Amino acid sequence: MEFTVNCNDLSQQTSACIIVAVFTSGQLGPAAQSLDKASNGAILNLLSGPDIKGRTGETLMLHQLAGISSPRILLVGCGDDAPLSNADFRKIVSSATAALAASGISDALSTLCELTVDGRDLVEKASQHIEVSASKLYRFTLFKKEESPLQMQQLDLYGDIVDSAALAQGIEQGKAIAAGVTLCRDLGNMPANVCTPSHLANVARELASEFSALAVDVLEEKDMEELNMGALLSVARGSREDAKLITLNYQGGKQEDAPQVLVGKGVTFDSGGISIKPSAAMDEMKYDMCGAASVLGTIKAIATLQLPLNVVGIIPTTENMPDGKASKPGDVVVSMSGQSIEVLNTDAEGRLILCDALTYSARFKPARIIDIATLTGACVIALGGHATGLLANDDALANDLLSAGEATQDRAWRLPLWDEYQKQIDSNFADMGNVGGREAGTVTAACFLSRFTKEQRGAHLDIAGTAWLGGKEKGATGRPVPLLVQYLRECSQDC
Ligand code: BES
Ligand code: MN
Ligand code: ZN
Repeated sequence: MEFTVNCNDLSQQTSACIIVAVFTSGQLGPAAQSLDKASNGAILNLLSGPDIKGRTGETLMLHQLAGISSPRILLVGCGDDAPLSNADFRKIVSSATAALAASGISDALSTLCELTVDGRDLVEKASQHIEVSASKLYRFTLFKKEESPLQMQQLDLYGDIVDSAALAQGIEQGKAIAAGVTLCRDLGNMPANVCTPSHLANVARELASEFSALAVDVLEEKDMEELNMGALLSVARGSREDAKLITLNYQGGKQEDAPQVLVGKGVTFDSGGISIKPSAAMDEMKYDMCGAASVLGTIKAIATLQLPLNVVGIIPTTENMPDGKASKPGDVVVSMSGQSIEVLNTDAEGRLILCDALTYSARFKPARIIDIATLTGACVIALGGHATGLLANDDALANDLLSAGEATQDRAWRLPLWDEYQKQIDSNFADMGNVGGREAGTVTAACFLSRFTKEQRGAHLDIAGTAWLGGKEKGATGRPVPLLVQYLRECSQDC
């Protein structure tokens, strides 16, 4: 997919389709006005008829308007001509892109960046346009033998010549974020027989060879043994795949700047282990590495954007399988921190691999630690697919993440991390159990993790509900890459 700036005269464009804004008030955006003029009022005419009212996200494809060289005009409803909310702008771009994809054409020109959007300059409008369009056009075709039907190859963003630099900057920014989201989705969608811990390690190595500011380090199981990572290793023991602990170190800031540390759960398949899951929808547990994938995607984006800050990505990755050597309910393991854990349920494996990764991350002297994990089914029940669960021991960090989510419409919602919940994970046989009963499952999982970041400012993002969609659109969403990139962009300005 190519994205470029285009400032040529609209009526002379040869693009297969020009996208223009229309409003419920019967008003036309500037581009629609100029095409309306060139076509002798054809567009205004239509707007007074039944075909399109101008409601937000409505679309209508027009063909072969007299006086216009482009063969198609896509009218997109943008509401009542007041400044748009950012959410509506994204919705408009999304439905316009969906209409392009459905039409089967391969190139188009969008004039939607001329819309007025609350609090957004042209750079940000262009960036979001690219991000939303790329996301809408995403397909996972790795294992499809047949050529996919004709698809969009080229999308131009139109603007006045004086705006071309801002548009170009926005396009570059949007492409970087889109590339991160795409990497995250590709990894999430890849089957677990391909996307193994070794595969994730190879992706990290490839990223490191692509960007000079990025260094990679991969620990093997024997290294983890030396570090006494008894919790992580206890999960890995049931699998024939070798576990890895991947570290990606991005040095975009000054040597002495404390890094932002991102820790991503990389369970490449979660069968539940001996506490095995029911078989219905068990295939979806290939997505249990979406935290890891979001770390890789975020680091790819920020390295492309060359953000001036330091970020360390840490990915503990393994399968969770039943086996003669697998952990049994009741087993006690000792984590790298020295704290012991009674494994009451082998399906609560995410926290077991994360806790050792969190302890390990202290060596990077983090400014802040954020872990990202498809951690609990309870979070899907609490928040559904709309909001990521956010739990933090620091209000400023929590608020920064919440506002990054609002800004990108990749939203999170905070849940309490109060001490009162901690007693649910008390154990008679070890320092803690790995489950806390049916109540507040997302909170008790976060309580467990908080015991390994006590000295640090930390946040936990539970993406069990947001990392993928079920049903017809089944697949990875790429969330929360947009939230994380936005958070880090803001950190690079003032953290
Ligand atoms: N990977 C799952 C969480 C999950 C469930 C993600 C559904 C997405 C959809 C995690 O490892 C898990 O199995 N959690 C258990 C914890 C329980 C045993 C305390 C769960 O949520 O059922
Ligand atoms: Mn599990
Ligand atoms: Zn899991």
